[in-house]
Amino acid sequence: MRKKTLILGIESSCDETAASVITEDERGIPLVLSNVISSQIDIHKEFGGVVPELAARAHMEKIDLIVQKAIKDSGKKIHEIDAVASTAGPGLIVCLSVGLSFGKALASTLKKPFIAVNHLEGHALSPKLNSELTYPYLLLLISGGHTQFLNVQGLEKYKRLGTTIDDALGEAFDKTAKLLGVEFPGGPKIEVLAEKGNPEKFHLPKPIYSRGGCNLSFAGLKTAILKITKKIKTDQERFDLAASFQNTVVKILHKKTKIAFREFEKQNKLKNKVFVVAGGVAANKNIRSMLINLCYKENYQTIFPKIEFCGDNAAMIAMVGLEKFKLKKFNNLDFPAKPRWPLDSDAAFLKGSGLKL
Ligand code: KG4
Ligand code: ZN
Repeated sequence: MRKKTLILGIESSCDETAASVITEDERGIPLVLSNVISSQIDIHKEFGGVVPELAARAHMEKIDLIVQKAIKDSGKKIHEIDAVASTAGPGLIVCLSVGLSFGKALASTLKKPFIAVNHLEGHALSPKLNSELTYPYLLLLISGGHTQFLNVQGLEKYKRLGTTIDDALGEAFDKTAKLLGVEFPGGPKIEVLAEKGNPEKFHLPKPIYSRGGCNLSFAGLKTAILKITKKIKTDQERFDLAASFQNTVVKILHKKTKIAFREFEKQNKLKNKVFVVAGGVAANKNIRSMLINLCYKENYQTIFPKIEFCGDNAAMIAMVGLEKFKLKKFNNLDFPAKPRWPLDSDAAFLKGSGLKL
């Protein structure tokens, strides 16, 4: 019987130290054998955000234990691993360097190939860990650092259709939470507060809603929320503001996703229309249900990663490693950490309120 490929993935781009071992079943469907994540929430909580030096130190203290646990949980032996895949960017350079150096050293000691992975490609391929997915597909990537619509044509083949021109959506959730007095990381708690609030209570701006194609903007929304938080006093008003913020985001995404659908259809000859939503914000149930309904009306199949693969994890890094391993796309041990590493390197840099869209 053919030995099944085993890939070890390592992730340390921000504030999660993670390692995972994945393989494939007889039909070539990926199987996650272990998925270990150590979060640093308690370290960064008192600062209200991620402190790069503290994050890097915590990665260094934990990385060997996390990798050992991922190997142990997988039920495999370390020498059975076929390749080591580490996140090389984008992210905080001091953090990236920890997982990247560890992965290179391990690959070299085991005399196995090393694979450098783009963290965003990890998010893009994360639904492959629980669903069959073929190219091309339209991807909405919504995380703490990125918000983009991408035409995914294949491994390493991305065409950006739209992007945020200022804040990422996860960042907008986190900043709104902070303004509402919610402890870091507040983004996921917005939907809990919103459940108790009236989504129509506050009318918030929808920046570049009627222009700019499927580009997005969230900075104006944050400024409006800042003004309102200075006036509100009761818990009920806080719930109403959380609900109004979430509702406004849902409306923006609804409109922009429809525009992205048309762009995607123009660029591809499609038999099946597939829409993938990935990244930490893809865990938001309100956004999920709106996008599922929209896809139903628009005849798109919607695919979300499992909730545990939405946030940062190493299984998605191993997933990219597995695809690259099959194509023998290995990297040298001098591959650098890349704090900035766009998926579509040809796309124009779009940032700033002065942009004419
Ligand atoms: O993908 P991710 O884990 O890390 C990055 O690569 O950025 O995304 C983290 C982001 C954070 O901004 C967090 O607030 C947001 O995802 N997030 C959510 C939810 N869960 C995580 N935002 C809204 N609703 C959620 N349920
Ligand atoms: Zn991420």
